[in-house]
Amino acid sequence: MKSKETSRDDQKKDFLRYVCQTSSEPMGVVVDRAEGCWITDRSGRKYLDFISGIGVVNLGHAHPAVVKAVAEQAARYLHVMVYGEYIQEPQVRLAKRLAQVVPPPLSVTYFTNSGTEANEGALKTAKKYMQRKKLVAFKGGFHGDSQGSLSVTGREVYRKPFRPLLPDVTFIPFNRLNALKAIDRRTAAVIIEPIQGEGGVNLPYDEFLPALRQRCDETGALLIFDEVMTGMGRTGRLFASQHWNVVPDILVLAKALGGGMPLGAFISRPEIMKTLSENPPLSHVTTFGGHPVCCAAGLAALDFLLENKLPERAERLGRYLMDRLNKLSDIGGVKDVRGKGLLIGFELKTAILTERFVTNCRDAGLILGWTLHSNTVIRLAPPLIITEQELDQGLEIMRKALWKATDQ
Ligand SMILES: Cc1ncc(COP(=O)(O)O)c(C=O)c1O
Repeated sequence: MKSKETSRDDQKKDFLRYVCQTSSEPMGVVVDRAEGCWITDRSGRKYLDFISGIGVVNLGHAHPAVVKAVAEQAARYLHVMVYGEYIQEPQVRLAKRLAQVVPPPLSVTYFTNSGTEANEGALKTAKKYMQRKKLVAFKGGFHGDSQGSLSVTGREVYRKPFRPLLPDVTFIPFNRLNALKAIDRRTAAVIIEPIQGEGGVNLPYDEFLPALRQRCDETGALLIFDEVMTGMGRTGRLFASQHWNVVPDILVLAKALGGGMPLGAFISRPEIMKTLSENPPLSHVTTFGGHPVCCAAGLAALDFLLENKLPERAERLGRYLMDRLNKLSDIGGVKDVRGKGLLIGFELKTAILTERFVTNCRDAGLILGWTLHSNTVIRLAPPLIITEQELDQGLEIMRKALWKATDQ
């Protein structure tokens, strides 16, 4: 035990010394293994995971169906060629399966390694296809940290240090109908998360996305839905935009798409996607995008998700969780509870209370965190396979943590 403890401390030290740090206070759990909704650290301590690696492990950690698919594909072949040249069965099967489940007429998939790369590809495709330059995005939106995605991310504090970024981006407020006037005939594309995740789990009014679709149709601008966080069943539908029956021109996925492996995608109509193969050919290429092991994992995850009706489960458990979270309001300090399915924003009254609450939860063995753009909104996004008993366990920790935080 002693030597394991020492090696845990050494690992922490090496992590801080050799791995580039992105914050002054990393969560610092020294992961030993993870299974289902639980992460075990090197000292054998178990944590209940209410954020799923930030919306990635919708099937829980190391789901057996995904692990099997990974092992089988890894034994067949790993990387054999850059994207788009050879015919690799897992890639073709996943693209065909996606075409069956995304709303028509979307049917052609380009695979990437991550969400930000998928957004880069979507934006480039829209500009090239439309032969227009202007992009419209939303305040409070988040689309990733590469320079194109950052250019359409709606928070100045993150854009400022990296200027110059893409020119000709107009930001408008989320949920403001009269702001849609900014979309005009110069606009190549509008990019939006149907539910803003990092912005603080902001839901659109029922009329907002249909009105946005209409404005794009009037002006010819392409509509890009970034469903990196909201996709793959998390909100109670396979894609969040299905709650409002709005079909984008380009659908962007990542996070849960790979079942825990790095995989992103943008999906559109054949005539739009064709633009990447001409004038010039090879307009957008990637070495690792659509890696066969990741696609095999993605296919296994998608099949399991649909066969086991996990979107419906997310909807049912989301209602259960929101109902119980609302009851925590009696303790005090709670400003709002909102969400769809198992993507829930639990908003407290102050940033200091939020920080204490999250820390208390972690000390008691529950992992959750606030959102990038809002330090008072805690995002709850447990694996969709979570049980009611596990939710209750988490809720009990949250109840005690909130009592303590309001007293501190
Ligand atoms: C809505 C949304 N888009 C894009 C991204 C970027 O994805 P990645 O971190 O895989 O590049 C994220 C990541 O949190 C996201 O939430």
